[in-house]
Amino acid sequence: MILAIETSCDDSAVALLNSDGSLIISRISSQTELHKKYGGIVPEIASRKHLTTLPLLLRSVMESQNLNLTDLKAVAVTYAPGLIGSLLVGVSYAKTLGWMLGIPVVPVDHLEGHLLAPFLDNSEIRFPYLALIASGGHTHLIHAQKLGQYKLLGKTMDDAAGEAYDKVAKMLGFQYPGGPVIEQLAACCPESTIDFPVPLIGKKTLNFSFSGLKTAVRNEAIRQGVYIEGKRLISFFDYVEIGDPERKRRIADIAASFQKIMTTIITRRMTEALKKTRLKQMVVTGGVAANTGIRASLAQLAAQKGVRFFYPSTVNCTDNAAMIGYTAAQHLKAGKQSFESVLKLNASSKSPIGLMDITV
Ligand code: KG4
Ligand code: ZN
Repeated sequence: MILAIETSCDDSAVALLNSDGSLIISRISSQTELHKKYGGIVPEIASRKHLTTLPLLLRSVMESQNLNLTDLKAVAVTYAPGLIGSLLVGVSYAKTLGWMLGIPVVPVDHLEGHLLAPFLDNSEIRFPYLALIASGGHTHLIHAQKLGQYKLLGKTMDDAAGEAYDKVAKMLGFQYPGGPVIEQLAACCPESTIDFPVPLIGKKTLNFSFSGLKTAVRNEAIRQGVYIEGKRLISFFDYVEIGDPERKRRIADIAASFQKIMTTIITRRMTEALKKTRLKQMVVTGGVAANTGIRASLAQLAAQKGVRFFYPSTVNCTDNAAMIGYTAAQHLKAGKQSFESVLKLNASSKSPIGLMDITV
């Protein structure tokens, strides 16, 4: 049995998996409430919270299965990339367990975890496939050739897709995370009357850029008198309570127009990448893959091109430990993971070159 630990950002997560990678139990403790009032994640608060939450999560998953620590055969842990303080909490915890129990500790790259997350919910997916990892920290377009061999086709040159959602939501006065709020607002205002510019249009590239779009949204929000800076951040439910219908309509229109352009950008890049790679399977994963509008547009693209389309269940799109345990199980099965001394393992804020064999 494999214990998996994920603490790369603001969610503390623990999972138990069988050695074939099948999931037994996955639990996530979200820190969203804690960071909401700051409009983003505060790294110091995040790492302190992991420290108190991890032992409770571990106990709850072990007790739910009537297991003892001695039943564990390996510990999988996210060691990169992410917030260094947060990563260090998980890595120190895993090292201690590994050393104490005399079992291997398998370091997992968080991005590889997202890349393989669709396997948790789809038994039919096989390598090779085209994957878009779109999260709060990354926007990577990848040709996943086989386990451990991933070719980077394009990535964001500035903000990540999820970061763009979070920043736009904040401008409109909403709390972190921005993606779900923008999605709800867009559903209130399906007409979306503003044509935001498509970034990098006419350029032969599979890269992304979201910072110009963010500025365009900001200018529009200022023009319409709905830009918010340094004021109290609200939730979607507070928005429902806003009395002024014209103000509400403007906010929803900007959100819906932003949602529309994000869907267009992502769908165009996937279209170009499919053409270039001629792959017959595609995957969208990471927090932004929870967006139903983006999923629907990609499903339509896949149907048009005769390509199979997969994505993780919503809970496995955002950060979780199940994907970390699954990834470790695949490397263990392939016999590829080398185990140095458990105590030598360290965390890294950057994805180390080599593990994912990423080349542009
Ligand atoms: O993968 P994730 O949980 O953490 C990182 O590794 O970054 O992704 C979090 C990001 C946040 O930026 C959040 O706003 C975005 O995913 N997100 C969404 C949705 N749900 C979460 N973006 C768009 N639509 C959603 N429904
Ligand atoms: Zn993530």
